Amino acid sequence: MAELSERIQTGDWKAEKHVPVIECPDAVRANDFFEVSVSLGKAVAHPNTTEHHIRWMALFFQPDGEKAPYQVAHVEFGAHGESTKGANQGPVYTNHATFDVGTKSPTDTSADFDTAHLTNIFESGPYLHDGRAATLEETWTRHNSEDKHGLSSDWTKQQLNDLIEYLKSL
Ligand code: HEM
Repeated sequence: MAELSERIQTGDWKAEKHVPVIECPDAVRANDFFEVSVSLGKAVAHPNTTEHHIRWMALFFQPDGEKAPYQVAHVEFGAHGESTKGANQGPVYTNHATFDVGTKSPTDTSADFDTAHLTNIFESGPYLHDGRAATLEETWTRHNSEDKHGLSSDWTKQQLNDLIEYLKSL
């Protein structure tokens, strides 16, 4: 029987949409907290469709000199907006396409991101692909300076509040 290690494959990640990207500081001081982000479909967009649903992602850490790795995160994506009408049907509030809404950061290789579905959006923050918007409001007040994600520079405070109230009802 083949060893598990023989099953591990390598490839050109720039052409592969299933390669996880792990971003973290190059160096940290002992006992300091730091952020690690794991994403998928960064270089090559991953289709945001029900048959391409990613069910889980896990993150492991192997300290220098230790025999076994530590599992430090395991995230389940238990719901993916499936519909009784069939795959990729139903009102999940996404068009399953990618768009540039002005949220590319210097470390992103593409400006196009999956259009997010908005069901239960009130409890799924932080928002945007890298979680830079701590609140729904910040999606527009801090991260839409080019007006590519709606002409929010024209909105009154009341209009923004109304939109947020609506989003929270989805
Ligand atoms: C008033 C209309 C809109 C509202 C209320 C809205 C709401 C939102 C919200 C709340 C997010 C963050 C979702 C999350 O992080 O989970 C988001 C992300 C996104 N929306 Fe919209 N959106 C609107 C219009 C549009 C339009 C017209 C497009 C495409 C032309 C679009 C494309 C996107 C994309 C690509 C993202 C992901 C951006 C990223 O992750 O950096 N949105 N939208």
